[in-house]
Amino acid sequence: MSLSSQWDEALFVLIKHKGEKMAMGDRFYVTTPIYYPSNRLHIGHAYTTTVADSLARWHKFLGKDVFFLTGSDEHGQKIQRTAEEKGITPKEYVDEIVASFKELWQALNVQYDDFIRTTDERHHKAVQEVFRRIYENGDIYKSKYEGLYCVPCETFWVESKLDQGNCPDCGRPVELVEEESYFFRMGKYADRLLQHIEKHPEFIQPETRRKEMVNFIKGGLDDLCVTRTTFDWGVPVPIDEKHVVYVWFDALTNYLTGAGFPDDTKSLAKWWPADVHLVGKEIMRFHTIIWPIILMALGEELPKTVFGHGWLLFDSDKMSKSKGNVVDPHALIAELGEDPIRYFLLREISFGQDGNFSKKALVERTNSDLANDLGNLLHRTLSMLGKYHGGVVPAPGAEEAIDGELKALAEETRERTVDLMDNLKINDALAQIWRLVGRANKYVDECAPWALAKETATQERLDTVMYNLFEVQRITALLVKSFIPRTGERIWAQLGIDQALPDTGFGDTAWGGLRPGTQTQKGEPIFPRIEWVEDEAEAANDSVEPQKKQPEPVQPPTNETEETVGVVGIEEFAKLELVIAQVVQAEPVKKADKLLKLQVDVGDEVRQIVAGIAQHYAPQDLVGRRILVVKNLKPVKLRGELSQGMLLAATSNDGTLELVSVSDAIAPGSRVK
Ligand code: ME8
Ligand code: MG
Repeated sequence: MSLSSQWDEALFVLIKHKGEKMAMGDRFYVTTPIYYPSNRLHIGHAYTTTVADSLARWHKFLGKDVFFLTGSDEHGQKIQRTAEEKGITPKEYVDEIVASFKELWQALNVQYDDFIRTTDERHHKAVQEVFRRIYENGDIYKSKYEGLYCVPCETFWVESKLDQGNCPDCGRPVELVEEESYFFRMGKYADRLLQHIEKHPEFIQPETRRKEMVNFIKGGLDDLCVTRTTFDWGVPVPIDEKHVVYVWFDALTNYLTGAGFPDDTKSLAKWWPADVHLVGKEIMRFHTIIWPIILMALGEELPKTVFGHGWLLFDSDKMSKSKGNVVDPHALIAELGEDPIRYFLLREISFGQDGNFSKKALVERTNSDLANDLGNLLHRTLSMLGKYHGGVVPAPGAEEAIDGELKALAEETRERTVDLMDNLKINDALAQIWRLVGRANKYVDECAPWALAKETATQERLDTVMYNLFEVQRITALLVKSFIPRTGERIWAQLGIDQALPDTGFGDTAWGGLRPGTQTQKGEPIFPRIEWVEDEAEAANDSVEPQKKQPEPVQPPTNETEETVGVVGIEEFAKLELVIAQVVQAEPVKKADKLLKLQVDVGDEVRQIVAGIAQHYAPQDLVGRRILVVKNLKPVKLRGELSQGMLLAATSNDGTLELVSVSDAIAPGSRVK
C-alpha cells in the first residue's frame, strides 16, 4: 500500500467512525450464511434464516433502521461438476436452485432486504476489488501449492488432520492437487486477531466457540491459498485471468458487497460493520479467522458479533444435504403453516446448542404453546366477552392486587425481552413472553369471570378483568409478531383494533394502549389442536427425503463430543430416580446461613437432605410441602450433615428461587418421568 493511499484509508476510516457515531444504535445489520445451491435447502438452513428474520424484525420493532442480507454461494468446483453431470451450464443449474431458495423464504414468511448471489456482477466487482487491494498492499503473493483437497467442502487439509485418509468434516475422500496459486498472509495478523478477540468478548459467541477459535489461532495460522486454476466457475482473479478466486474468499466478501462495497461509500458507511453474522458452528473458523483477517488486510472494521449456533440433529445425526437425512421444510409448511415451524425452531432449540428435530416434538410444542396457551386464551376470552359485553372491550374500573401483578409482569416481560434479545437469547425471550401468556390464563381461572358475570355487584370488577385480559393479549400480539408474524396479525385482527399491527411500535407495548369500546372480532381458533397418535410416528418420514445411497460410508465428524453437547439419550435420563417427597421436618444448620436440614418422606423411608435454600424459605413454611427430589444421588456430607438426595428448584435470572412442587394429589414416592 502506498503512503498516500494509507492516508486516504485512515481518513476514510475516520470519517466513517464519525458517521457511525451519529447513527450508532439506530441501525442494525444482520446476515445469514449464503447457502450452497448444491441441493434444495432443508430445515437446518430454515433455522438460521428464521433466527435472522426474527432478529431483523425485532430490531425494526425497536425502531431501528434494519438491513437483513441473505443469499447464495454459487461458485466452485462442486457446483461446476454437478451442472456438468446434469448436462446444463452452471448458471442454468444455480438459477433453478436459487429460485427454490427464494420460494422457501417466501413460504416461511422471511423478509430479507437484499438477496445476494455470488454470480451478481456487483459481487464480482467487490471480490476483485478486495483481491486487488490486498494484493497491492503485499498480503497476497504468488507461489505453488500441493495439497489434499476436499471438493464438497472446498477445503484443503494437511495429512495429519485427515480421518483415515478422508475429510474430517464430511468423511469423504480428499484429492491430491498441485497448482500455482496466490497465497494470503494470514499468519501476520494472528496476534492482532487474538488481541481483538480478547478485547471484544462479544465478537465470538457463544463462549465455547470463542475458546475453540482462540486455541485454533494459537496453534498457528498458515498462509491461505486463495486462488484455483483447476476449474473456472468462479470470480476471475483481476491480475491473472488463469486463476479464479477461492470460494471462501469469494463467499465471505458477500457481506461487504451487500453493504455497498466498493463504490457505494455512503451505504457502506451506514451499514458496515455488520452487527451479527449468524452461522452454523461448522463454519465458525471461516467467519472468525479468515474473514476478520481479510477485513484487517483491507483496513475495514470487523463485524461486531459472529454467532455460531448449534446443529439441528435428526436421530442425533447432523442433518445435511450430503447425507440425505434432511427434513424438507416445504412439506412441513404445507401441512402446518409456517408459524408452528418458526416457533418450534426458535423456542425448542436452546440458541447456541445442538437440538433434535422431530415431528412429534413439533406437534407437541404447537399443541401446548400455540393451541393451548396462546390460542385458547384468545378463544375463551373472546367467547366470554361476546357473552358478557357484546364483544366490546369495557373500560377498566378499580385495580386490585392481582391486576397489579399481571400488569407488573407485562412490564417486566417487555423489558426482559429487550434484554434477552440484545444478548441473542432467543428461546429465553420466547419463554418470557409465554410466562405472561401463562399468567394470563391463570388470571382467568383466579378471577373466574363467569362468576363475576352473575352478580350485578361485580360488574365493574368483571370490566376490569376483561380489559386486563385483552390488554395482555394486545401486548402479546405485538411482542410475538417478530417471531411468528402471521400469528401476531391474526390475534390483532380478532382483537379488532383499528390500526394495522405496526412494524415498529415497541413503545405501544406499554400498558394501557387498548382503547375501551374496541369491538372485537371473534373468529376461528388460531391454532386448532393437531391430532397426533404415537404410531403415526412414521408419518414424520413423509417430510423426510429417503436416505440416499452414499458411495462411501459416512464417517462421523471428529468433533464428536462437541456435536452431542446438550443432548442426552432417554436411557441416560432414565438413570435418574426422580420422585415426589413430602417435607416432614425442616431446621437450620448451625454456622451455615445458607443451608437447611430437611427430613423428607420419599415413599418407602424418611431421609435427610441438606439444601442451600435457607435464604429463600423459612423452615416452618416447608413442612408438609410435596417437592421433587433426585432419590439416587450419591450421598454427601455437608457441614458434617449427611445429605441423601437432592431437591430440585428453579432459579430465575434475578435470583428468585422456588422449589419445584406438586399438590397433595400426588403421593410421596411417586415417580417423575
Ligand atoms: O456453508 N443445523 O453453505 P451451506 C443447523 N456456502 N444449521 C444448519 C444445518 C443443520 N443441520 N445445516 C445447515 C455454506 N445449516 C457456505 C456458507 S457464508 C460466507 C458461506 C445452516 O449451504 C447453518 O447456518 O453448507 C450452516 O452454517 C449453513 O446452513 C451451511 O450452509
Ligand atoms: Mg455445509
